[in-house]
Amino acid sequence: MIDPLVTAAREARERARATFSHFKVGAALETTDGRVITGCNIENATYGLTLCAERVAMFKAVSDGYDSFRRIAVVADTEEPTPPCGPCRQILWEFAGDIEVILANLEEEKGRYRMSELLPLPFDARLLSR
Ligand code: THU
Repeated sequence: MIDPLVTAAREARERARATFSHFKVGAALETTDGRVITGCNIENATYGLTLCAERVAMFKAVSDGYDSFRRIAVVADTEEPTPPCGPCRQILWEFAGDIEVILANLEEEKGRYRMSELLPLPFDARLLSR
């Protein structure tokens, strides 16, 4: 059975603006009360201002007032799982903590991880308070 969160990420991937890389990614973030906020990667002509699908989903969610999350699904059309990049790991950790990360392609799930596996020894706000 396909996890509905993966289906939502696949649908979001269709909206990717991957004009330059042609590498489309979709993400679907689930809040602890069961809402789903999606994101896709958005590229532009300067290349460097690209936003990954995971950060689009997270920033949409934060700006809509959500602050408690359970899982995120990430979908790309790759045989190997496509995990969040380094900057996305930092943002996911800081705003969602040790959530589950589901990696999938267009046909099947490729793996489930916890953020603490993907980002061991994180830098975060705990270190700033003294
Ligand atoms: N990308 C994502 O959106 N998420 C990932 O997890 C990996 C990379 C995007 C950024 C860029 O638009 C394209 O994929 C190629 O790197």
